[in-house]
Amino acid sequence: MILKEKDKLLVGKFLKEIPAFRNLSDKRVEQIINDFTIHTFRAGETVFYQTDKSTDMYIILEGKVKVTLLSEEGDEFVLTDLNPGDFFGEMSLIDGNPRSASVTAEEDSIFAVLERNRFLDAIKEDPEIAIDLLKSLVQRLRNATEREESLAFLAVHQRLVKLFKKLIKDEGKKKKNGFYLIKKRTHKEIAERIGASRESISKVIKRLVSGNLITENGDLFMLSPKLFEDIDELTD
Ligand code: CMP
Repeated sequence: MILKEKDKLLVGKFLKEIPAFRNLSDKRVEQIINDFTIHTFRAGETVFYQTDKSTDMYIILEGKVKVTLLSEEGDEFVLTDLNPGDFFGEMSLIDGNPRSASVTAEEDSIFAVLERNRFLDAIKEDPEIAIDLLKSLVQRLRNATEREESLAFLAVHQRLVKLFKKLIKDEGKKKKNGFYLIKKRTHKEIAERIGASRESISKVIKRLVSGNLITENGDLFMLSPKLFEDIDELTD
């Protein structure tokens, strides 16, 4: 399928931001753009499931996805959230094996999708793409190692504080009194992100609320700076 001019511009813009494609010449980008197709998903729709046998790679042009693992009981564990400019599906694309995780659109999303064979052709033409892709994979592996370290060595309370630190970095606002504001999440959503049970999150949050370290304020959490005092050396 030939891309419309508007889609070409969008794909070209994002290709330039993705490490694996960043160093390509304008001419090469112009050629490779035609290998992509555009797919849209509504918020809540599944892009693919863990163990699916597809092998395409996706670049997020607009929207947001979450990458998750599902237990047989239906419990979800969120590996990561991905935003515009991020890519996913590279693992099956590289080794041809089934999908390692499920991906769901968290917002209405638009993706540029590249077939495995087209990508392998692109690598043969520009081996630089493979080196940059390796760098991105290593970064994901480092993040996964850090997560495993948290699961292995940190208590639920510490994991929760670490998650709050990340959310403050991504989206937080600091108030004049030194408190931080972040969007409120349900205990279930928090549990899915730090590999704990919903019950244990509820217990820890209740304790933090009664110690005035967290205040639930409408659709916001207000977090006391004291929450982070003991954990800094663990999470920097
Ligand atoms: P793939 O296995 O093809 O399909 C699922 C995708 O989720 C995978 O490729 C990666 O793009 C992404 N993914 C899997 N595990 C992780 C992880 N630990 N961190 C970030 N992304 C991941």
